[in-house]
Amino acid sequence: MQKLSILGTGKYVPSRRLTNDDLAKFIDTSDEWISSRTGIKARHITETENTIDLALEASKLALEDASVLASEIDLVIVATVTPQNTFPAAANIIQSKLGIGEVMAFDLNAACSGFVYAMDVATKLMQSGVYKKALVVGSETLTKYVDWTDRNTCVLFGDGAGAVVLGEGDGEVIDCISHSRGDVDGHLFGGGPALRDLNDTSVGTVGFIEMNGREVFKFATTTVPKAIQEILEKNNLTIDDVDKFVCHQANERIIESSAKKLKVSMDKMFVDIAEYGNTSSASVPIALDDALKQGAIKKGELIVMVAFGGGFTWSSALIRL
Ligand code: ACO
Repeated sequence: MQKLSILGTGKYVPSRRLTNDDLAKFIDTSDEWISSRTGIKARHITETENTIDLALEASKLALEDASVLASEIDLVIVATVTPQNTFPAAANIIQSKLGIGEVMAFDLNAACSGFVYAMDVATKLMQSGVYKKALVVGSETLTKYVDWTDRNTCVLFGDGAGAVVLGEGDGEVIDCISHSRGDVDGHLFGGGPALRDLNDTSVGTVGFIEMNGREVFKFATTTVPKAIQEILEKNNLTIDDVDKFVCHQANERIIESSAKKLKVSMDKMFVDIAEYGNTSSASVPIALDDALKQGAIKKGELIVMVAFGGGFTWSSALIRL
Protein backbone atom coordinates (compact mmCIF):
# COMPACT_ATOMS: atom_id res chain seq x y z
CA MET A 1 0.00 0.00 0.00
CA GLN A 2 1.44 3.42 -0.91
CA LYS A 3 2.21 5.85 1.94
CA LEU A 4 0.14 8.91 1.08
CA SER A 5 1.35 12.33 1.96
CA ILE A 6 0.34 15.97 1.55
CA LEU A 7 2.80 17.12 -1.12
CA GLY A 8 1.71 20.76 -1.33
CA THR A 9 -0.96 23.24 -0.25
CA GLY A 10 -2.46 26.44 -1.64
CA LYS A 11 -5.11 28.97 -0.71
CA TYR A 12 -6.86 31.83 -2.42
CA VAL A 13 -9.28 34.44 -1.12
CA PRO A 14 -10.93 37.24 -3.08
CA SER A 15 -9.33 40.66 -2.73
CA ARG A 16 -12.41 42.50 -1.43
CA ARG A 17 -12.08 42.55 2.36
CA LEU A 18 -15.09 43.46 4.47
CA THR A 19 -14.34 44.32 8.10
CA ASN A 20 -16.79 44.21 10.99
CA ASP A 21 -16.84 48.01 10.94
CA ASP A 22 -17.79 47.90 7.23
CA LEU A 23 -20.70 45.58 8.10
CA ALA A 24 -21.84 47.85 10.92
CA LYS A 25 -22.48 50.54 8.30
CA PHE A 26 -25.41 48.63 6.82
CA ILE A 27 -26.64 46.23 9.53
CA ASP A 28 -27.31 46.66 13.23
CA THR A 29 -24.11 45.13 14.60
CA SER A 30 -20.69 46.13 15.91
CA ASP A 31 -17.07 45.01 15.78
CA GLU A 32 -17.29 44.45 19.55
CA TRP A 33 -20.28 42.05 19.24
CA ILE A 34 -18.85 40.05 16.34
CA SER A 35 -15.28 39.75 17.56
CA SER A 36 -16.15 38.93 21.16
CA ARG A 37 -18.76 36.29 20.15
CA THR A 38 -16.84 34.71 17.25
CA GLY A 39 -13.24 35.93 16.92
CA ILE A 40 -14.04 37.21 13.40
CA LYS A 41 -12.61 40.62 12.44
CA ALA A 42 -12.96 40.48 8.63
CA ARG A 43 -14.02 38.28 5.72
CA HIS A 44 -13.21 38.27 2.00
CA ILE A 45 -16.07 38.37 -0.46
CA THR A 46 -16.25 37.70 -4.17
CA GLU A 47 -17.44 40.32 -6.63
CA THR A 48 -16.91 38.81 -10.06
CA GLU A 49 -15.27 35.48 -9.14
CA ASN A 50 -17.23 32.29 -8.51
CA THR A 51 -16.49 29.07 -6.59
CA ILE A 52 -14.65 27.57 -9.57
CA ASP A 53 -12.43 30.64 -10.01
CA LEU A 54 -11.39 30.51 -6.36
CA ALA A 55 -10.77 26.75 -6.55
CA LEU A 56 -8.63 27.17 -9.68
CA GLU A 57 -6.32 29.73 -8.06
CA ALA A 58 -5.88 27.66 -4.88
CA SER A 59 -5.24 24.53 -6.98
CA LYS A 60 -2.56 26.21 -9.10
CA LEU A 61 -0.74 27.29 -5.94
CA ALA A 62 -1.00 23.80 -4.41
CA LEU A 63 0.39 22.18 -7.58
CA GLU A 64 3.27 24.67 -7.64
CA ASP A 65 3.96 24.11 -3.93
CA ALA A 66 3.99 20.34 -4.51
CA SER A 67 6.12 20.63 -7.70
CA VAL A 68 3.53 18.42 -9.38
CA LEU A 69 2.33 18.97 -12.95
CA ALA A 70 -1.39 19.12 -13.65
CA SER A 71 -0.87 16.26 -16.10
CA GLU A 72 0.26 14.00 -13.20
CA ILE A 73 -3.06 14.37 -11.32
CA ASP A 74 -5.36 11.37 -11.71
CA LEU A 75 -8.13 12.24 -9.24
CA VAL A 76 -9.88 15.56 -8.52
CA ILE A 77 -12.35 16.10 -5.67
CA VAL A 78 -13.87 19.51 -4.92
CA ALA A 79 -15.71 19.86 -1.62
CA THR A 80 -18.31 22.60 -1.85
CA VAL A 81 -21.82 23.52 -0.77
CA THR A 82 -21.83 26.49 -3.13
CA PRO A 83 -21.07 25.03 -6.57
CA GLN A 84 -21.41 27.39 -9.50
CA ASN A 85 -23.65 24.87 -11.25
CA THR A 86 -25.64 21.85 -10.14
CA PHE A 87 -23.80 20.21 -13.00
CA PRO A 88 -21.24 19.96 -14.45
CA ALA A 89 -19.34 19.62 -11.20
CA ALA A 90 -16.75 22.25 -10.26
CA ALA A 91 -14.21 19.41 -10.31
CA ASN A 92 -14.97 18.74 -14.02
CA ILE A 93 -14.32 22.35 -14.98
CA ILE A 94 -11.14 22.47 -12.91
CA GLN A 95 -9.90 19.25 -14.51
CA SER A 96 -10.28 20.80 -17.92
CA LYS A 97 -9.09 24.35 -17.10
CA LEU A 98 -5.92 23.10 -15.39
CA GLY A 99 -5.13 20.73 -18.25
CA ILE A 100 -5.53 17.60 -16.12
CA GLY A 101 -6.19 14.44 -18.17
CA GLU A 102 -9.60 12.77 -18.53
CA VAL A 103 -9.54 11.49 -14.93
CA MET A 104 -12.17 10.90 -12.26
CA ALA A 105 -13.37 14.32 -11.05
CA PHE A 106 -16.37 14.98 -8.83
CA ASP A 107 -17.80 17.35 -6.22
CA LEU A 108 -18.57 16.32 -2.68
CA ASN A 109 -21.09 17.93 -0.34
CA ALA A 110 -20.72 17.22 3.36
CA ALA A 111 -21.37 20.84 4.37
CA CYS A 112 -18.48 22.37 6.33
CA SER A 113 -16.91 18.92 6.86
CA GLY A 114 -16.54 18.61 3.08
CA PHE A 115 -12.78 19.03 2.76
CA VAL A 116 -11.92 16.53 5.53
CA TYR A 117 -14.52 14.13 4.06
CA ALA A 118 -12.83 14.60 0.66
CA MET A 119 -9.42 13.78 2.19
CA ASP A 120 -11.00 10.61 3.61
CA VAL A 121 -12.50 9.62 0.23
CA ALA A 122 -9.33 10.50 -1.73
CA THR A 123 -6.98 8.54 0.52
CA LYS A 124 -9.24 5.49 0.53
CA LEU A 125 -9.53 5.58 -3.27
CA MET A 126 -5.75 6.03 -3.55
CA GLN A 127 -5.08 3.16 -1.17
CA SER A 128 -6.66 0.93 -3.82
CA GLY A 129 -3.51 1.63 -5.83
CA VAL A 130 -5.50 2.90 -8.82
CA TYR A 131 -4.86 6.62 -8.19
CA LYS A 132 -1.38 8.03 -7.60
CA LYS A 133 -1.83 11.80 -7.27
CA ALA A 134 -4.97 13.62 -6.18
CA LEU A 135 -6.02 17.24 -6.09
CA VAL A 136 -8.38 17.82 -3.15
CA VAL A 137 -10.02 21.24 -2.88
CA GLY A 138 -12.46 23.04 -0.60
CA SER A 139 -14.00 26.11 -2.27
CA GLU A 140 -16.95 28.27 -1.23
CA THR A 141 -18.79 31.48 -2.00
CA LEU A 142 -21.14 31.41 0.99
CA THR A 143 -21.59 35.17 0.98
CA LYS A 144 -23.86 34.63 -2.03
CA TYR A 145 -26.16 32.49 0.13
CA VAL A 146 -26.53 34.76 3.14
CA ASP A 147 -29.37 37.11 3.81
CA TRP A 148 -27.50 40.41 4.27
CA THR A 149 -30.38 41.70 6.43
CA ASP A 150 -30.07 38.79 8.92
CA ARG A 151 -27.38 39.81 11.41
CA ASN A 152 -27.57 36.39 13.09
CA THR A 153 -25.93 34.73 10.10
CA CYS A 154 -24.44 37.23 7.63
CA VAL A 155 -21.62 38.34 9.94
CA LEU A 156 -20.27 34.79 10.18
CA PHE A 157 -19.38 33.79 6.62
CA GLY A 158 -16.68 34.54 4.04
CA ASP A 159 -15.50 33.27 0.64
CA GLY A 160 -12.30 31.41 -0.21
CA ALA A 161 -10.63 28.21 -1.34
CA GLY A 162 -7.89 25.89 -0.17
CA ALA A 163 -6.30 22.92 -1.92
CA VAL A 164 -3.86 20.10 -1.31
CA VAL A 165 -2.03 17.69 -3.59
CA LEU A 166 -1.84 14.13 -2.29
CA GLY A 167 0.68 11.54 -3.44
CA GLU A 168 3.50 9.31 -2.30
CA GLY A 169 5.91 11.33 -0.12
CA ASP A 170 7.75 11.64 3.18
CA GLY A 171 4.68 12.39 5.29
CA GLU A 172 1.63 10.19 5.88
CA VAL A 173 -2.11 10.51 5.98
CA ILE A 174 -2.37 8.03 8.84
CA ASP A 175 -6.14 7.83 9.22
CA CYS A 176 -9.41 9.62 8.41
CA ILE A 177 -12.79 9.03 10.06
CA SER A 178 -16.08 10.52 8.84
CA HIS A 179 -19.57 10.48 10.36
CA SER A 180 -23.05 11.83 9.73
CA ARG A 181 -26.29 12.16 11.64
CA GLY A 182 -29.18 13.28 9.51
CA ASP A 183 -31.81 13.62 12.21
CA VAL A 184 -31.22 17.24 13.13
CA ASP A 185 -32.65 18.97 10.10
CA GLY A 186 -33.24 22.67 10.63
CA HIS A 187 -30.39 23.57 12.98
CA LEU A 188 -28.22 24.39 9.97
CA PHE A 189 -29.81 24.62 6.59
CA GLY A 190 -29.02 26.01 3.15
CA GLY A 191 -32.17 25.96 1.06
CA GLY A 192 -32.16 24.58 -2.46
CA PRO A 193 -34.73 25.11 -5.20
CA ALA A 194 -37.85 23.07 -4.44
CA LEU A 195 -39.31 20.61 -6.95
CA ARG A 196 -41.43 22.56 -9.39
CA ASP A 197 -44.42 21.66 -11.47
CA LEU A 198 -43.70 20.98 -15.15
CA ASN A 199 -45.74 24.02 -16.20
CA ASP A 200 -44.17 26.41 -13.69
CA THR A 201 -41.84 28.62 -15.73
CA SER A 202 -40.80 30.95 -12.90
CA VAL A 203 -37.07 31.20 -12.28
CA GLY A 204 -35.96 29.11 -9.29
CA THR A 205 -34.19 30.80 -6.40
CA VAL A 206 -31.74 29.46 -3.91
CA GLY A 207 -32.70 29.84 -0.25
CA PHE A 208 -30.59 31.58 2.34
CA ILE A 209 -28.57 29.93 5.09
CA GLU A 210 -30.65 29.38 8.22
CA MET A 211 -29.11 28.45 11.52
CA ASN A 212 -29.98 27.76 15.12
CA GLY A 213 -26.69 29.18 16.42
CA ARG A 214 -26.98 27.90 19.97
CA GLU A 215 -27.77 24.31 18.89
CA VAL A 216 -24.89 24.34 16.38
CA PHE A 217 -22.59 25.69 19.08
CA LYS A 218 -23.63 22.89 21.48
CA PHE A 219 -23.17 20.24 18.80
CA ALA A 220 -19.77 21.57 17.75
CA THR A 221 -18.31 21.90 21.24
CA THR A 222 -19.26 18.28 21.98
CA THR A 223 -18.32 16.82 18.61
CA VAL A 224 -14.90 18.41 17.99
CA PRO A 225 -13.30 16.96 21.18
CA LYS A 226 -15.09 13.62 20.63
CA ALA A 227 -13.81 13.35 17.04
CA ILE A 228 -10.24 14.18 18.11
CA GLN A 229 -10.31 11.60 20.91
CA GLU A 230 -11.80 8.98 18.58
CA ILE A 231 -9.05 9.23 15.94
CA LEU A 232 -6.27 9.35 18.54
CA GLU A 233 -7.57 6.35 20.50
CA LYS A 234 -8.01 4.33 17.31
CA ASN A 235 -4.35 4.97 16.47
CA ASN A 236 -3.02 4.41 20.02
CA LEU A 237 -1.97 8.04 20.40
CA THR A 238 -2.66 10.66 23.05
CA ILE A 239 -3.35 14.38 22.90
CA ASP A 240 0.29 15.04 23.88
CA ASP A 241 1.54 13.27 20.74
CA VAL A 242 -0.15 15.89 18.52
CA ASP A 243 1.79 19.01 17.53
CA LYS A 244 -1.12 21.06 16.17
CA PHE A 245 -4.90 20.87 15.72
CA VAL A 246 -6.35 22.42 12.58
CA CYS A 247 -10.06 22.79 13.30
CA HIS A 248 -12.90 24.08 11.15
CA GLN A 249 -12.95 27.83 11.71
CA ALA A 250 -16.61 28.52 12.51
CA ASN A 251 -16.18 30.33 15.80
CA GLU A 252 -13.05 30.88 17.89
CA ARG A 253 -15.09 30.13 21.03
CA ILE A 254 -15.87 26.64 19.69
CA ILE A 255 -12.11 26.04 19.31
CA GLU A 256 -11.43 27.45 22.80
CA SER A 257 -14.12 25.30 24.37
CA SER A 258 -12.77 22.19 22.59
CA ALA A 259 -9.24 22.97 23.79
CA LYS A 260 -10.50 23.32 27.35
CA LYS A 261 -12.37 20.00 27.21
CA LEU A 262 -9.29 18.27 25.80
CA LYS A 263 -7.01 20.03 28.31
CA VAL A 264 -4.90 21.36 25.45
CA SER A 265 -3.25 24.76 25.42
CA MET A 266 -4.63 27.19 22.82
CA ASP A 267 -1.06 27.37 21.45
CA LYS A 268 -1.72 23.97 19.89
CA MET A 269 -4.91 25.12 18.15
CA PHE A 270 -4.28 26.96 14.88
CA VAL A 271 -6.73 29.86 14.52
CA ASP A 272 -7.08 32.19 11.52
CA ILE A 273 -10.81 32.92 11.67
CA ALA A 274 -10.15 36.63 12.39
CA GLU A 275 -9.20 37.21 8.76
CA TYR A 276 -11.66 34.96 6.88
CA GLY A 277 -14.78 34.23 8.93
CA ASN A 278 -16.35 30.84 8.32
CA THR A 279 -15.49 29.66 4.80
CA SER A 280 -17.21 26.27 5.24
CA SER A 281 -15.33 23.48 3.45
CA ALA A 282 -12.53 25.89 2.53
CA SER A 283 -11.72 26.72 6.16
CA VAL A 284 -9.54 23.69 7.02
CA PRO A 285 -7.36 23.78 3.87
CA ILE A 286 -6.98 27.58 4.15
CA ALA A 287 -5.93 27.16 7.80
CA LEU A 288 -3.55 24.33 6.88
CA ASP A 289 -1.89 26.44 4.19
CA ASP A 290 -1.66 29.47 6.49
CA ALA A 291 -0.20 27.37 9.31
CA LEU A 292 2.45 25.87 7.02
CA LYS A 293 3.35 29.13 5.30
CA GLN A 294 3.53 31.01 8.64
CA GLY A 295 5.73 28.28 10.14
CA ALA A 296 3.12 27.42 12.81
CA ILE A 297 3.28 23.81 11.54
CA LYS A 298 6.45 22.22 10.24
CA LYS A 299 7.22 19.25 8.03
CA GLY A 300 7.42 16.08 10.09
CA GLU A 301 4.91 17.24 12.71
CA LEU A 302 1.77 15.34 13.66
CA ILE A 303 -1.50 17.19 13.12
CA VAL A 304 -5.20 16.44 13.50
CA MET A 305 -7.65 18.18 11.18
CA VAL A 306 -11.26 18.20 12.33
CA ALA A 307 -14.43 19.67 10.88
CA PHE A 308 -18.17 19.69 11.54
CA GLY A 309 -21.05 20.91 9.46
CA GLY A 310 -24.70 20.86 8.51
CA GLY A 311 -26.49 17.52 8.48
CA PHE A 312 -24.86 17.11 10.92
CA THR A 313 -21.59 15.78 9.53
CA TRP A 314 -18.17 15.56 11.14
CA SER A 315 -14.81 14.23 10.10
CA SER A 316 -11.21 14.01 11.32
CA ALA A 317 -7.85 13.30 9.73
CA LEU A 318 -4.57 12.31 11.42
CA ILE A 319 -1.59 13.40 9.37
CA ARG A 320 2.19 13.32 9.65
CA LEU A 321 3.29 16.26 7.49
N1 ACO B 1 -24.73 41.84 16.05
C1 ACO B 1 -25.30 42.27 17.18
N2 ACO B 1 -26.19 41.52 17.88
C2 ACO B 1 -26.50 40.32 17.37
C3 ACO B 1 -25.95 39.82 16.19
C4 ACO B 1 -25.02 40.66 15.52
N3 ACO B 1 -24.41 40.29 14.38
N4 ACO B 1 -26.43 38.60 15.93
C5 ACO B 1 -27.28 38.30 16.93
N5 ACO B 1 -27.34 39.34 17.81
C6 ACO B 1 -28.11 39.46 19.02
C7 ACO B 1 -29.28 38.54 19.04
O1 ACO B 1 -30.36 39.13 18.38
C8 ACO B 1 -29.52 38.39 20.52
O2 ACO B 1 -30.25 39.49 20.96
P1 ACO B 1 -31.46 39.33 22.01
O3 ACO B 1 -30.84 38.69 23.22
O4 ACO B 1 -31.93 40.72 22.21
O5 ACO B 1 -32.43 38.43 21.31
C9 ACO B 1 -28.14 38.51 21.14
O6 ACO B 1 -27.31 39.08 20.12
C10 ACO B 1 -27.52 37.23 21.64
O7 ACO B 1 -27.62 36.21 20.69
P2 ACO B 1 -27.11 34.77 21.06
O8 ACO B 1 -27.69 33.82 20.09
O9 ACO B 1 -27.29 34.48 22.50
O10 ACO B 1 -25.53 34.91 20.83
P3 ACO B 1 -24.46 33.82 21.06
O11 ACO B 1 -23.55 34.24 22.14
O12 ACO B 1 -25.03 32.43 21.13
O13 ACO B 1 -23.63 33.89 19.69
C11 ACO B 1 -23.40 32.82 17.56
C12 ACO B 1 -24.29 33.65 18.46
C13 ACO B 1 -22.12 33.56 17.33
C14 ACO B 1 -24.09 32.59 16.24
C15 ACO B 1 -23.09 31.48 18.28
O14 ACO B 1 -24.28 30.89 18.70
C16 ACO B 1 -22.37 30.52 17.40
O15 ACO B 1 -21.21 30.73 17.02
N6 ACO B 1 -23.00 29.39 17.06
C17 ACO B 1 -22.39 28.42 16.19
C18 ACO B 1 -22.32 28.99 14.83
C19 ACO B 1 -21.68 28.05 13.90
O16 ACO B 1 -20.70 27.40 14.21
N7 ACO B 1 -22.25 27.94 12.78
C20 ACO B 1 -21.77 27.02 11.85
C21 ACO B 1 -22.12 27.56 10.54
S1 ACO B 1 -21.95 26.44 9.31
C22 ACO B 1 -20.75 25.50 9.75
O17 ACO B 1 -19.64 25.93 9.83
C23 ACO B 1 -21.03 24.15 10.11
